[in-house]
Amino acid sequence: MTSRRRIVVGVTGASGAMYAMRTLQLLAAADCEIHLVVSKLARRLINDELGIKSLDLDQLTDGRAENVILHNDGDVGAAPASGSFVHDGMVIVPCSANTLGRIAGGMTENLVQRAAACTLKERRKLVLCHRETPLTLIEIENMAAVTRAGAIVAPLNPGFYLQPTRIEDLVDYMAARILACLGIEHGLDVHWDEHLKRHR
Ligand SMILES: Cc1cc2nc3c(=O)[nH]c(=O)nc-3n(C[C@H](O)[C@H](O)[C@H](O)COP(=O)(O)O)c2cc1C
Repeated sequence: MTSRRRIVVGVTGASGAMYAMRTLQLLAAADCEIHLVVSKLARRLINDELGIKSLDLDQLTDGRAENVILHNDGDVGAAPASGSFVHDGMVIVPCSANTLGRIAGGMTENLVQRAAACTLKERRKLVLCHRETPLTLIEIENMAAVTRAGAIVAPLNPGFYLQPTRIEDLVDYMAARILACLGIEHGLDVHWDEHLKRHR
């Protein structure tokens, strides 16, 4: 494997396509090799929420589409479906309650879910950016199950202590947290200590 970081990104049909786009942009800017899998419902939400049709990778990565290898979510024979596909981590952003439940139950019916199951079985990093509210006990128990199996549950739940003034500030806050979970550097100024210095 090369020293270039390889990250699998799953996008599922929960609200928050902007979080997926910003995460892809930051991973591409960090020169990661991105293996992207987008569920059928996620394609709809990318269209509805971002106005991006036909998965325009240039738009989703801010002009760095060459960093992305797009896999068909229906292809459970694609590279990320195998444990022997070595990578540096996987994130599902946003992660629907449906996909969370499938992963927690050990069932896989598409490539996003299969890649997540392989990531867990190989003891690699899996970050699940769940978005749904309020939560049922079923979802809470599913979160506990995936956490016990080694995943990091990182709900899409931005903080307001950096005094955001734009939607983009809230999205950047979360995208930066996601990259931190994956151990990937980013240039975003979203650190509390820096904020304190600026306002002293
Ligand atoms: C407009 C729209 C918004 C949705 N938002 C959410 C959401 O925020 N969270 C969620 O868990 N499911 C949401 N859903 C439902 C999921 O898309 C649905 O459960 C789907 O089966 C998920 O499939 P996937 O996990 O394979 O993407 C939404 C569906 C639609 C059509």
